[in-house]
Amino acid sequence: MTSDILIIGGGVIGLACAVELKLRGAGVTVLCRNFSDAASHAAAGMLAPDAEKISNGAMLSLCWRSRFLYPRWTRKLEDLTGLNTGYWPCGILAPVYQEAGEQGAGGRSKDKDVSQSSTYWLDKAAIEQYQPGLGADVIGGWWYPEDGQVDNRALVKVLRTAAESLGVEFKDGVTVDAIAQQQGKVIGVQTNLGLLHASHYVLAAGAWANQLLPLPVIPRKGQMLSLRVPESVPELPLTRVLYGENIYIVPRRNRSIVLGATSEDVGFTADNTPDGIQSLLQAAIRLYPQLANYPIQEMWWGFRPSTADELPILGNSHCDNLTLATGHFRNGILLAPVTAELIADLIWEKKADPLLANFHYSRFQAQSSTTTSMLTHSANFTNRHGNLQPTDLTIQDSSLIIAGKTFQSRLMTGTGKYRSIAEMQQSVAASGCQIVTVAVRRVQTKAPGHEGLAEALDWNKIWMLPNTAGCQTAEEAIRVARLGREMAKLLGQEDNNFVKLEVIPDAKYLLPDPIGTLQAAEQLVKEGFAVLPYINADPMLAKRLEEVGCATVMPLAAPIGSGQGLKTTANIQIIIENANIPVVVDAGIGAPSEASEAMELGADALLINSAIALAQNAPAMAYAMNLAAVAGRMAYLAGRMPMKNYASASSPLTGTIT
Ligand code: GLY
Repeated sequence: MTSDILIIGGGVIGLACAVELKLRGAGVTVLCRNFSDAASHAAAGMLAPDAEKISNGAMLSLCWRSRFLYPRWTRKLEDLTGLNTGYWPCGILAPVYQEAGEQGAGGRSKDKDVSQSSTYWLDKAAIEQYQPGLGADVIGGWWYPEDGQVDNRALVKVLRTAAESLGVEFKDGVTVDAIAQQQGKVIGVQTNLGLLHASHYVLAAGAWANQLLPLPVIPRKGQMLSLRVPESVPELPLTRVLYGENIYIVPRRNRSIVLGATSEDVGFTADNTPDGIQSLLQAAIRLYPQLANYPIQEMWWGFRPSTADELPILGNSHCDNLTLATGHFRNGILLAPVTAELIADLIWEKKADPLLANFHYSRFQAQSSTTTSMLTHSANFTNRHGNLQPTDLTIQDSSLIIAGKTFQSRLMTGTGKYRSIAEMQQSVAASGCQIVTVAVRRVQTKAPGHEGLAEALDWNKIWMLPNTAGCQTAEEAIRVARLGREMAKLLGQEDNNFVKLEVIPDAKYLLPDPIGTLQAAEQLVKEGFAVLPYINADPMLAKRLEEVGCATVMPLAAPIGSGQGLKTTANIQIIIENANIPVVVDAGIGAPSEASEAMELGADALLINSAIALAQNAPAMAYAMNLAAVAGRMAYLAGRMPMKNYASASSPLTGTIT
């Protein structure tokens, strides 16, 4: 069998991709083992990026984008099939109990939410009026009007019908045993029907993905049940989803009420358990007491495909002709339309949406590089003393990963302030850097040294980091970031969504504006940028920026171009201690000793421009900084000796003849 595209997995993600690819003109075959196993069959169908409190910025953008697509997408499917998906933009109410306070089930600060998205706090009187019959100890709740639900079982039926009517071929009851690969390509999938071939493959196998590839996807079991509104209650008692503590209650228009879900790390252990069902019923009855007398309709369980960071794995794989669309964890139903769109763009139009970089499988391959690779970038320079041979070093390091993209060098440089283009080229080479930051505005205005930049560096090897230098407000920086993305595209970096965010209102001290930076970062993350904000060394700001989804934080060591060295050590240390994203020390480093010191503190990377460009011999200084970054990193990994108050002889006295 040969088909254009073979999709492994017949759940909502596989089906949504099949329909989208078929609509674009591909020949599509779907391999489906047993649909009733799929998490999409077990789900409740909530479309709930707000109620689920998704905090990763890129994930939130992905979820919001998918929720936005839902009405158009379901309408298209309904038009194709004449069937109903049960899409219902009914909003979600998250009641809060006394003991949890207002930060409870919704878990949010009132001020933050009200200003950022359509989220409203309802006090006890308001929530009682809006949804009568809630438990007596509910003190109020959050109202998420843009969240909603779809009848997931109806949806997958509609998707399958749509796919069949469009001519997608289905092979049911097919078990895939292996993905056969040769020389970086998939050559077929081994199944109980034999080897099946296609020109391209999509892995959408949900919780079972890691039986075929070493992806960190594990099952997270959810038990669920449904009740039926009794005939004695003529009107639907609930017309919006209730999202409580350890429970959600999803009322369907067909009078079924879905209750979910446990979250259990028990592998693929089947069955409902008394404990699981009891906990759901207890929480549901507390939230909405009259459910205690409703008839139980059905009980079931399913396995969410959870990943190590609970984000999906989307996009290219290690094989040219294999695309990954798995690991959607709690949000597979919600993310189906956006996944289908991004995956079809990627396969069929060869267009990688910038958001995809955040969900690339390589983010889990942190153990891939060693010291050897850290030092290879200095290979252009002869080491006359021969004392830096990496071969006998055994220390293991991870690569630097920013927004899913892997870099071996931990030193970033810039293009400004050099005396000539040639000097800049030599310095970039000597620095061994893989990321060079470029001021978008200076390129636009063809400032000296910024003409001919497209030709000056090999952009196949160097990743451009457009920066918003010269922007005084958040609005300006957002505009310039968008131009930066276009600039990267012109250099052939189609998937480059990086931006070094600088919002600097004052020209004298060149200190960044924390509020403008946070505002711009939030917006740019929503637009799918990987944001690397330049900040004062403020630990609280660093945390806030991480929370809104920035890819790194870039605290300053000292004012830009001052060469004063590490003036903010204590704060940088706190930032490093608390960050879950790379910390790049930026600005102020003047000498290799300072570069090394920053790395010894545990910084993940450095950005150094002036200290290289303004050195008397810039390429030599670039090389020195290269070595310093490596030395500092090695020292950090090696672990320095503890400091002591008094001397301690180098040659121990034990065993000496007295
Ligand atoms: N989306 C809700 C859950 O996974 O339980």
